[in-house]
Amino acid sequence: MTRAFKTLDDMGDIAGKRVLVREDLNVPMADGAVTDDTRLRAAVQTVAELADRGAIVIVLAHFGRPKGMRNPAMSLSLVTRPFSQVLGRQVAFLDDEGAGNAVAMMRPGDIGLLENTRFDPGEEKNAPETVDRLASLGDLYVNDAFSAAHRAHASTEGLAHRLPAFAGRQMEAELDALDKALGNPEHPVAAVVGGAKVSSKLDVLRHLVEKVDHLIIGGGMANTFLAARGVDVGKSLCEHELTGIAEEILDAADKANCTVHLPYDVVVAKEFRANPPVRTVNVHEVAPDEMILDVGPAATEALADVLKTCRTLVWNGPMGAFETPPFDTATVALAKTAAALTKEGSLVSVAGGGDTVAALNQAGVADDFSFVSTAGGAFLEWMEGKALPGVAALQQ
Ligand code: 3PG
Repeated sequence: MTRAFKTLDDMGDIAGKRVLVREDLNVPMADGAVTDDTRLRAAVQTVAELADRGAIVIVLAHFGRPKGMRNPAMSLSLVTRPFSQVLGRQVAFLDDEGAGNAVAMMRPGDIGLLENTRFDPGEEKNAPETVDRLASLGDLYVNDAFSAAHRAHASTEGLAHRLPAFAGRQMEAELDALDKALGNPEHPVAAVVGGAKVSSKLDVLRHLVEKVDHLIIGGGMANTFLAARGVDVGKSLCEHELTGIAEEILDAADKANCTVHLPYDVVVAKEFRANPPVRTVNVHEVAPDEMILDVGPAATEALADVLKTCRTLVWNGPMGAFETPPFDTATVALAKTAAALTKEGSLVSVAGGGDTVAALNQAGVADDFSFVSTAGGAFLEWMEGKALPGVAALQQ
């Protein structure tokens, strides 16, 4: 496969070479323990492969948003042991002070984790001095952090211009999957876009209507589109001030031959809490004191039928208020359909961004999708059609 970037396969003999590997180890922690180790697991393949090939592996990563200041609560020393456990190998923590000496002592196959790159005020500014400092620690650079690639920072972008640069295995898998989903997809393509607010996804929707054949809108944001079509959405979450923009997006979809699917039956309740009394109604029958909290069963079935006609699916955001039962029903049902079609081989399914992974995990189908991205903000920016600086630098 010809790609616009180099991978670990293009590195040649790296025995004894110092390789700087940018990973995303920005994991959630509570009481000193990592609560979701997905990103640690995603880093394993690249780091292990480089160490097995005899490189001196120096992992670069950020942790939280310390804004250019040292903050012990955001030290990567806290992540060193969990990372080492997931990796099943020793990882040495390398404090910034004396990092050069520590690296000089490392042997081929050793793995070190450098302190939080964002403790240096030059990291987020992509300052040449910071790039120089980091570059002095390595001979080669690998970027394996797709989920941080929307940041033009010294460790995500600057280094790619200073050292021979390669995509790590996770980055390679992300870029290949995203290319299959929107870059060069097999048509028909469907996009599921859900979530609470349309305001956070306007650019995503504008871009998608030009790219996909079916745009399925769910979650709270569907209410704004329903309101734009003259539906009275009662007490539902709705950004009434954006109905004009919603109309523009619907018009653009029309012109681009993209069919927009909005729910025509919905599950409503008077209170937003777990298991309140609910009604399933046509969207035109929502009472003034009711709110829409999920897509209804008839629309969910119709959406499943749409997916059955598609070859490619890209999914971002839940269809209803999925964290609160029973308003996870449509999300779970549609995710299960997508998973089944993927298993059958008729659909390439790619999902990512914020709540999406949690929703697919809740449906128990994350493993059955073709690809689930570890990225939040980067996935959204990619769905907006923006060039990600960390990726662009690898493609030069
Ligand atoms: C993320 O958690 O999405 C990435 O690690 C990027 O983090 P940031 O939003 O703080 O740049």
